[in-house]
Amino acid sequence: MSGGLIRSEHEGFDQAMTTPTDPLVSELDVLRRERDRYVKSHAETYELFLEKVEDLSLIRRVSDALRNVIERHAMSRSILEIVAEEVAPQRVYLFLADRDSLFLVAQKDVHQDTAVQIYSGVSAQEVENDSLVTTVHVTEVAQLLPAIAPEARLKIGIRDSAEVGSLILLPLMGAECSLGVLLLTHTQRNFFEPKHERTLAIISNTIATSLKSILMFEEKIRVERALLHSDKLASLGRLVAGVAHEIGNPLGSLLGYAQILKRERETPEERREYVLAIEELAQRMRNILAELLNFSRPSPVKFDLVDLGDSVKKVIGFLAAQKTFRQIMISVDLPSGGERLQVWCAREQIEQVFLNILINAADAMPDGGVLSIVGRSHDDVVRLQFSDQGAGIPAEQLDRIFEPFFTTKAEGKGTGLGLAVAARIVEKCRGTIQVESEIGKGTTFYLSFPHGAAGQGAHGQLTGC
Ligand SMILES: Nc1ncnc2c1ncn2[C@@H]1O[C@H](COP(=O)(O)OP(=O)(O)OP(=O)(O)O)[C@@H](O)[C@H]1O
Ligand SMILES: [Mg+2]
Repeated sequence: MSGGLIRSEHEGFDQAMTTPTDPLVSELDVLRRERDRYVKSHAETYELFLEKVEDLSLIRRVSDALRNVIERHAMSRSILEIVAEEVAPQRVYLFLADRDSLFLVAQKDVHQDTAVQIYSGVSAQEVENDSLVTTVHVTEVAQLLPAIAPEARLKIGIRDSAEVGSLILLPLMGAECSLGVLLLTHTQRNFFEPKHERTLAIISNTIATSLKSILMFEEKIRVERALLHSDKLASLGRLVAGVAHEIGNPLGSLLGYAQILKRERETPEERREYVLAIEELAQRMRNILAELLNFSRPSPVKFDLVDLGDSVKKVIGFLAAQKTFRQIMISVDLPSGGERLQVWCAREQIEQVFLNILINAADAMPDGGVLSIVGRSHDDVVRLQFSDQGAGIPAEQLDRIFEPFFTTKAEGKGTGLGLAVAARIVEKCRGTIQVESEIGKGTTFYLSFPHGAAGQGAHGQLTGC
């Protein structure tokens, strides 16, 4: 547009200057040369400007296409589609490095307009070690082979090299090394030119940046999974150690009694006493196994709309008469005036949760104190709060109290399954359980559940926990 304007001005200038005026001729020549130089450099600058605009818009197109891709296959697909659109080769291949090896991960036949083919894992497409693709990956230098004779069978890294008349290989450069290689082929010789190489260099830079962030993202997920797995293994180890400990101790005593009885030296009274002890120990082991079983494979229960206020009152009624609660003052603050704390859950199970939290609270206050329970319903959420004035839980134990078999109670007093089972039950009712504790001041457990039928869902109807 501005080019046309410049030309017409110059034509006028030429006409005026071509009338010879002797003293000015040489000066005119100088001016004319200067003008030509100016026009040429202006045209070159303009060319350069257009080129830059084109480069920028290319970068923009590529980054737009890759911006929201966060998965390797989707990324490979997008990369090949972009290259196909921008350069129109006959075929385009993407190779990615995984540890020390290079693999063909995607391919597109542009002329046949087939969808991008994705390869995953080690396959027959594995790149040979001494192919051109590997060389470009290792040396990190792009290669343009403009005219390949039909009879030349190159070891490129793809099968049908005889069909290739020209090709371009580009390393995808990460910060320190090549992440992979892009290969574009055409059956026609001299199809690829240096201008393609330039376009591809721009594309491959943008691709490499996106690829790098995807690879980092994948690595982060892999590390997180590995950590989670090792954490699970550690919990399993602790669980097994807990079972061994809980069952092992009574079992040892039981065997001891059996040995004594075998000697047949005891009086009938002593024998009776030992048999009763054996019975008690066996009963204890049976209870532990039942709790453990309930933890790992809870029996089917009926879900229903349960008023948590009623359940709390029922559990308190049952506990208040117990010896442990004699010195405890229980304060209950529940909504009045017909407001109900309805939650979709299994009644007996939620009562088991309250029972355990309340017994724990009483255990933490052997010399008495206040145990307060507050229940409210706001914004579709039912919340319950159980606070005691007990010894509190040390910070380093807070993370462990929901672990199966974590207990600080004396031998035979607690199995450490109470809160583990409670957490599981609450989770199945789509609720949450949290704890806050201060040494010497007390502990508060916060429970929250979706209000009413809002909690009905995956675990709803007649399902087991
Ligand atoms: N209110 C509380 N105050 C202080 N410590 C608590 C309280 N609640 C739980 N704990 C700590 O958490 C541990 C685990 O509690 P959990 O209910 O799972 O097992 P437990 O009470 O030891 O045994 P179980 O409930 O199986 O008989 C307890 O041993 C105790 O150390
Ligand atoms: Mg307990």
